Amino acid sequence: MNLAELVDPTHAQGDVKLFRVKDELRAALAPARRDGATIGLVPTMGCLHEGHLSLLRAARAESDVVVMSLFVNPAQFGPGEDLDRYPRDEERDLRLAAEAGVDIVYAPPVEAVYPDGFATHVEVDGELTGVLDGDPSRRGSGHFRGVTTVVTKLFNTVQPDVAYFGQKDAQQVAVIRRMVRDLDIPVRVEVLPTVREADGLAMSSRNAYLDPRARGQAGALSRALRAAEETARAEDLDAGLRAARAELDAADVEPEYLEARDAENLTEVAELGDRPTLIAVAAHVGGARLIDNVVIRP
Ligand code: PAF
Repeated sequence: MNLAELVDPTHAQGDVKLFRVKDELRAALAPARRDGATIGLVPTMGCLHEGHLSLLRAARAESDVVVMSLFVNPAQFGPGEDLDRYPRDEERDLRLAAEAGVDIVYAPPVEAVYPDGFATHVEVDGELTGVLDGDPSRRGSGHFRGVTTVVTKLFNTVQPDVAYFGQKDAQQVAVIRRMVRDLDIPVRVEVLPTVREADGLAMSSRNAYLDPRARGQAGALSRALRAAEETARAEDLDAGLRAARAELDAADVEPEYLEARDAENLTEVAELGDRPTLIAVAAHVGGARLIDNVVIRP
């Protein structure tokens, strides 16, 4: 049986159902769930690019029902960050979601997600959330508290079998994996490789902020990470980080951080060992704060 039809009996190729109310979404998913259908969830903040589309296609290939959430989550933006100017284009997102075979888009209003008196948060401890982006001098751990809170709410609402995230947000992935493990949330977390532009720039909704000069500089992040991996493998991790720094310097990009950490628990590492090593970089380039990473596997 085509389980998309279960969700919406009039479902035709390329149709997507839009829900803004969580009880209506749950009611729509109930027959599919009763029928044993697998539900795949792709959480997004919209402004879809190829990175999102790769997650949607994977969900389409592996799940009976594909749900995409579309919610610019104010709780994960700090004061002075880009919440107000974050790019939004719901019509385009719905069209791209339909083309990627999404069955359902869940796009709740902010007041429904955070009603008056909202007082409960989900927080993963500082070992994972107080470093890299979570360092108090950068986005701070409040960013991840916002992410884990909204992702928990999405998991509770959709109850997916599988949820899809991109490796570009390596720290977010490590934090969500830990939350899922620690809280026994019955969902499988699938992480897909970063999708890149021709010059290596990691796809990101924030690339829209790059003016032509900054766009030229931005390719340095991925070049730096490639240099880091090659040199770390050929020599050692320290030399790898120096090679990365040289690539950034050559493009006049000052990193906010460039660090090597254990890819799973995010503790600092000084040498490549028998566990995957994450090299993560963040930098303000023109008007955009960009992040990227590479994982060096033993
Ligand atoms: O990666 C994102 O786009 C967001 O952090 C997420 C997971 C949709 C939560 O708002």
